[in-house]
Amino acid sequence: MAEIIDGKKIASQIKEEAKQRAAELKNAGYRIALAVVCVGDDPASGIYVRNKKKACADIGIESLSYELPEETTQEELLALIDKLNRMEECSGILVQLPLPSHIDENAVIRAIDPAKDVDGFHPENVGALCIGQPGLVPCTPAGIIELLKRSGIEIEGKECVVVGRSNIVGKPMALLLLRENGTVTVAHSRTRNLEELCRRADILIAAVGRPRIITKDYIKEGAVVIDVGIHRNEANKLCGDVDFESVKERCSAITPVPGGVGPMTIAMLMDNCVQAVFMAHEKEKGGKAPDGDRE
Ligand code: GUN
Repeated sequence: MAEIIDGKKIASQIKEEAKQRAAELKNAGYRIALAVVCVGDDPASGIYVRNKKKACADIGIESLSYELPEETTQEELLALIDKLNRMEECSGILVQLPLPSHIDENAVIRAIDPAKDVDGFHPENVGALCIGQPGLVPCTPAGIIELLKRSGIEIEGKECVVVGRSNIVGKPMALLLLRENGTVTVAHSRTRNLEELCRRADILIAAVGRPRIITKDYIKEGAVVIDVGIHRNEANKLCGDVDFESVKERCSAITPVPGGVGPMTIAMLMDNCVQAVFMAHEKEKGGKAPDGDRE
């Protein structure tokens, strides 16, 4: 039987650490405040935004809430971001995605000051991740690295297969596994022989976006399986991209849905909120922020 990786438990450890670091920074006179911007009334976004604001309150991070109507124009949204970029008391900016279709998401992401981009989506942060420079890293893949490390799973030298190439999960996931010295393959909708490719993986990251597509036939005996998907099955119960029941019989460790990757995303967002202030403060002192790559 596989080890079931407890994302809730690891997320609460990370949030506790973020709370302590936030308190230290606040004692040193720094202000930590996250601006959460939501446009329109997508119900799923509403839930995510509420959870993010609650996590801020738990950790001692101020949250500034901007709930804008669906008809908000791109110019109005860009003007708000410009204001938040200049606002000294705001240290992090998060624009909840997806945005209404009349707004260009990329233009909005590019407008955010990279030093306040706690989602790690700005091209400057993406580029920094790519070339091993310090920067803010997207929360879900950063959370998966923490899940692996804190479960004692070594990445170095392992065959890692990432199924999915989104900008939010798949691509940054591949870069982070590479940074940890994994041997990384990225599979996607045009990949041939997906099943065979996945069976090579020591560590399989499923970020496909299709319910229970990864069955036990995709799994090498003893592999570690991380499930990023979140869907509702026929019985309206939550499930992931992985067919948990069959896969858990073949792998050595697996994340459940719910209670695996999900809680890590918000925990890492809190970590990024603290990290943004820490990096700005180090820059002020002329110090060097931690991080970087090796050959
Ligand atoms: N929508 C779905 N996931 C995310 C996320 O990680 N950040 C933001 N800003 N929007 C999202």
